[in-house]
Amino acid sequence: MNTRQKQVAVVVVIAIILWFVIAPPHWWLNLTKQVDLTDAATTGEQLVQEYGCANCHIVGSEGALKAPNLNTIMSRLDDVSVRLWLRNPRAVKGNTAMPNFHLSDSEIDAIVAYLELLNNRE
Ligand code: HEC
Repeated sequence: MNTRQKQVAVVVVIAIILWFVIAPPHWWLNLTKQVDLTDAATTGEQLVQEYGCANCHIVGSEGALKAPNLNTIMSRLDDVSVRLWLRNPRAVKGNTAMPNFHLSDSEIDAIVAYLELLNNRE
């Protein structure tokens, strides 16, 4: 490789790294962020803690009032809408304060299982 080709290669590699950090493609998330769904609701509870959902929502016995209560969300919204909120909040509401957590499909499955459990408890 001559110097020019090396420069191009470096720019391409940096662009790909930036792409995966800023807007990771969903197949990549599914590969790298797979969770075990044997006990989906418990895994979901751990993810809700890990991602700090309670900083904005009431979820379980704790939480804040900046966003809708999630304990009864599964009876207020249908399954497809909840999954879309988790996958890409801006796709539901362009100016929402809800961050995109770049969740994988299995993480979404686990969180939905936990939300179902909370909903059934109410
Ligand atoms: C920085 C604050 C913040 C965090 C953290 C956050 N959310 Fe949200 N979320 C919001 C806001 C604000 C809304 C309401 C969206 C709107 O109307 O703009 C929302 C909406 C939702 C909705 C749709 C609620 C409805 O009634 O339509 C779901 C489901 C949801 N969030 C789940 C989660 C989960 C699960 C987590 C953790 C993985 C999480 N959120 C983390 C701010 C947050």
